[in-house]
Amino acid sequence: MKTDLSFANLAEIETELLAVLAVDTQTSKGPDSKPNPVLLTADGAVKAAAVSALASGEFKAGANETLLLHAPAGLAAKRLLIVGLGKEAKATVNQVRNAAGTAVRFAKPRGIRELAFALPESELLPPGPCARAALEGAIVGDFDPDTYRSDRRDLSIRSFSLAAPVSSERDAIQTASDEGVIVGESQNFTRSLVNEPGNKLPPTALGQRAAEMAGQVGLQSAVYSTDKLHELKMGSFWAVSQGSEEPPALIVLRYEPEGVTEGPVLGLVGKGITFDTGGISIKPAEKMELMKYDMAGGAAMLGAMRAIARLKPKVRVICIVCAAENMPDGKAQKPGDVQTAMSGKTIEVINTDAEGRMVLADGLSYAKQLGATHLIDAATLTGACVVALGTANAGSFSNNDETFAKFQGALATSGEKFWRLPLGEEYAEQIKSDIADIKNTGGRHGGAITAAEFLKVFAEDTPWIHLDIAGMAWIEDSKPYIARGPSGFAVRSILEWVRSY
Ligand code: BES
Ligand code: MN
Ligand code: ZN
Repeated sequence: MKTDLSFANLAEIETELLAVLAVDTQTSKGPDSKPNPVLLTADGAVKAAAVSALASGEFKAGANETLLLHAPAGLAAKRLLIVGLGKEAKATVNQVRNAAGTAVRFAKPRGIRELAFALPESELLPPGPCARAALEGAIVGDFDPDTYRSDRRDLSIRSFSLAAPVSSERDAIQTASDEGVIVGESQNFTRSLVNEPGNKLPPTALGQRAAEMAGQVGLQSAVYSTDKLHELKMGSFWAVSQGSEEPPALIVLRYEPEGVTEGPVLGLVGKGITFDTGGISIKPAEKMELMKYDMAGGAAMLGAMRAIARLKPKVRVICIVCAAENMPDGKAQKPGDVQTAMSGKTIEVINTDAEGRMVLADGLSYAKQLGATHLIDAATLTGACVVALGTANAGSFSNNDETFAKFQGALATSGEKFWRLPLGEEYAEQIKSDIADIKNTGGRHGGAITAAEFLKVFAEDTPWIHLDIAGMAWIEDSKPYIARGPSGFAVRSILEWVRSY
């Protein structure tokens, strides 16, 4: 998708489709109150073109609701698309992000391959953040997961043009929309990795894709395998991979901005299980095919690193993705086995399906060994997190309020929802083992929390955040602004957390 930015009168823009936003300004709630949709533009010609359609009452300006007008009078555009943001009081930058995606996903199936999107003019919606969000939303909306369909028709948008008012602060909007392009493309990079099936993207291939991306954006990279795991004594990570014919990949990326030799070193650690059968504690067949997305945490870290390399924040970052395939086999680890992690801690394996925490344990230790002063991990870690929070919020955990506050702050920009869940001694009790230091499952109660407690043992005293994105990384049903399938969730929040340092 080619993107550009123009400062022109909307009426004069020659385009296949001009998208303009609207809010519902009706505030009373009585049985007779009718929605009152109002366009977020000062352009008289656009308002005139839409006036009778808006007066008809057919369009309520609900969030992501659309109304199409052909050959709008007085406009150079062939079509005018009005996209709703919902109630005026609730219209947010995040809604603008979604509305841009909605416009793109409206155009795609209709064979419309070029559109202009009017930056909303409203006191409640700051132009810079809206410009960035619009480009993110458009690029994310353009992604479809049909990579391997032979009847695939390329319906992707050729050109998306953001139309800002002539009077705009041009430099600020240009910078913001350039950022939006980087972030949207990075989120789609993550989605393209998560979309790949287990046979097409085993750990080695994930490592290759990471190294390729690193080369393109100027990150240092190294991809190691079995020998390095043994050398580093990563007994926990290795134990997960030992049942697979596919060798593991220990992916290490580094971002070292010029001149920054002091201050924090942020360690990003991702779960990269390219397929999770459960191992000897094998999963039921139902929906097992979805376990190709068990590397979404790792892919989110790679997407965030791509954006970091392009946006160049002044802080050093290390990224570690622990990639392995969790398979049952004659050589696979068994329930009851005891593994020694890189940190020296011993782990009793109760369930081989609790493999994510085992690879992350060594990933966290390694990030610390490489100098990380602050840690963040992302993982599709537990079904229990999905039971607890559903598909509206990801789980988040931390051993450090100050570090977590920075993450919380990042969410205002990312528009992603995370809910902080507790940690505590009582939960840590649940993973005590008779034979070893800890066991890898803590029973049915509080499963997302006991998994986090397990990771906390390896973060030790280092400030650390854990993101459980099991319910968020894969979208079951398409939304007006995003295709079903891989979401690229957490890329934006991790990026903004890094940029907050
Ligand atoms: N990858 C799964 C978690 C998962 C479940 C991700 C559903 C996405 C959707 C993880 O490795 C796993 O199997 N966790 C177990 C842990 C249990 C054995 C303690 C789970 O959640 O059932
Ligand atoms: Mn598992
Ligand atoms: Zn898993």
